Amino acid sequence: MIPVNEPLIGAREAEYVMECLKTGWISSEGKFIKEFEERWAAYCGMKYGVAVSNGTVALQSAVACLDLKPGDEVIMPTFTIISCAQAVTYNGGVPVLVDADPRTWCMDVNQVAARITPRTRAIMPVHIYGHPVDMEPLWELARRHNLAIIEDAAEAHGAEYKGHRCGGLGDLNCFSFYANKIITTGEGGMVLTNREDYAERLRSFRNLCFKKERRFYHTELGNNFRLTNLQAAIGLAQLERIEESIKHKRWMGAAYTERLRDVPGLQLPVEEPWAKNVYWMYGVVLDESTGLDAAEFARRLAERGVMTRPFFLGMHEQPVFKQMGLFLNERHPVAERIARQGLYLPSGMTLTESQIDAVCVAVRDVLKEAKRH
Ligand SMILES: Cc1ncc(COP(=O)(O)O)c(C=O)c1O
Repeated sequence: MIPVNEPLIGAREAEYVMECLKTGWISSEGKFIKEFEERWAAYCGMKYGVAVSNGTVALQSAVACLDLKPGDEVIMPTFTIISCAQAVTYNGGVPVLVDADPRTWCMDVNQVAARITPRTRAIMPVHIYGHPVDMEPLWELARRHNLAIIEDAAEAHGAEYKGHRCGGLGDLNCFSFYANKIITTGEGGMVLTNREDYAERLRSFRNLCFKKERRFYHTELGNNFRLTNLQAAIGLAQLERIEESIKHKRWMGAAYTERLRDVPGLQLPVEEPWAKNVYWMYGVVLDESTGLDAAEFARRLAERGVMTRPFFLGMHEQPVFKQMGLFLNERHPVAERIARQGLYLPSGMTLTESQIDAVCVAVRDVLKEAKRH
């Protein structure tokens, strides 16, 4: 089987982790945490980095900085991971959804203005599968309506919007370092910000809101969202290699596109003129004329040794939110279609050219066979 993803762990990761083990700095204190935070923030052009235990709690902590009042709203794409929406509901707010752009699969920024109300507090753009969101219109709306931007750059390490790195485009910018991400720490996440007060709050939330002045005395409730020095050690080693990793992803993207460009009924990822796509995952959307949906396509590819993953199912189609009375009767046709017709192909850090060849042969075979029936 060709796996959908495999992390690449090098000798440097092992060396740094060994240093933690030998020196005993295995919890959330230690030099690698600080260095990882500082270097990642600098890489993205931001002042402060606060490392946390995963991308989901990075989003939850970022939203917590806004002190939402019950019913306050955050506008986000329906086509994303549930972490985005639950970051808002856990903080007492209401996620407000827009549909996906049919080319980039990121949020359709043209739909945002119509969804702004007096309760809107923030916009949460999510860079989908490595392609940046068109930020300019969002910056303009945020300025005009005094809204925060919480960027979810979990899937877009090193991607660029008009020459600026993703993760440096909002007020509170969130990352995941899960094993399938371009930089991984196994499990892990980070929030970047330029505001010192946000950075202080994030540090406090991740560490049970302990007070500096008086230990075990609390005026607020926090969490244990700490990242370990061991994890940061892996992250730092990964960060030292990021340019190679991005090069690999972009090579992979170009290799797939070259081989699949002329396959009828297959929509491939784009790179808008203002974007640097890092092809975190190489997604494809099947035209209905192929006679296949993504689930059946995935099953047939698996029979040929190719692992895939389905696209997100929109937030407005999630039973858990319907039960909460959210998004009732909402329709987002683009997200609904790509959820059914989209999947991503093997896209890992260890993927070889011969594996890409094999995947593309399998894709062509499955589609040819479907056409015959
Ligand atoms: C866009 C996006 N945001 C947030 C997350 C959540 O990150 P984590 O799995 O580290 O909690 C993910 C997935 O991993 C993601 O793809």
